[in-house]
Amino acid sequence: MRSELTPGEVVLVGGGPGDPDLITVAGLRAIQQADVIAYDHLSPAEVLADAKPGAELVSVGKIPRGRGTPQTEINALLVDRAQRGLRVVRLKGGDNFVFGRGGEECEACIAAGVAVRVIPGVTSAVAVPGVAGIPLTHRTLTQAFTVVSGHVPPDDERSTLDWDAIARANTTIVILMGVHNLAAITDRLTSAGLPPNTPAGIVCRGTRDDELVLRGSLIDIAQRASDDGVVPPAIVVVGAVAALDLTSR
Ligand SMILES: C[S@@+](CC[C@H](N)C(=O)[O-])C[C@H]1O[C@@H](n2cnc3c(N)ncnc32)[C@H](O)[C@@H]1O
Repeated sequence: MRSELTPGEVVLVGGGPGDPDLITVAGLRAIQQADVIAYDHLSPAEVLADAKPGAELVSVGKIPRGRGTPQTEINALLVDRAQRGLRVVRLKGGDNFVFGRGGEECEACIAAGVAVRVIPGVTSAVAVPGVAGIPLTHRTLTQAFTVVSGHVPPDDERSTLDWDAIARANTTIVILMGVHNLAAITDRLTSAGLPPNTPAGIVCRGTRDDELVLRGSLIDIAQRASDDGVVPPAIVVVGAVAALDLTSR
């Protein structure tokens, strides 16, 4: 992985799941060299302290269900700064290509003739359950995991997911952006045949000092989350592995 940034280049940097120590070495080197950093609310803010003096730091975060910078404006900002010959970092939480709009930003750069490349990040989809003691695969329990977005409820016309197939597939199910639709999602999985006593867990603010982990089953995890006032960011894990707690706490 080339660690020097080139003037006029955009680099998509994955910031990792939250703990600032979980950004990659290459990602941190890019932060240190950037003239411009466009960052989101889920990217680890602490790493911005490593930006060079005078670097332009632009918050383009979108609060879930709240206001945010339109994607077209973010694309335009990246292209504009690169065309001025600046070294541009687009910093996201986790990995830019996992529900991170990284593809759209690459396309915008390519269309504008701007050089773009990716420094991958540690995605929260794997790291957040892992740090909470939930492995997504475990020999004897499951041989695969499925990562889905719970951003729209299963019966919403915008949903492109086949929830029956997901329920049948016998994989660990990892749901991102599912807090608000959790009851609808667990109902849908149950009606598709997943046993109500299937273990389920939810990890909020994973890898952070104020991480919260709740455990239960498919039938009660939504109620537990609601009772505990769970708000995003949180990841829900459904499947036999969610009963494990591989921490020594
Ligand atoms: C728009 S997606 C971005 C995912 C990111 N690109 C990644 O690879 O981790 C945002 C969702 O990721 C999950 N997430 C990200 N960071 C998290 C954290 N520290 N703890 C729990 N969930 C997190 C939540 O489900 C949140 O709603």
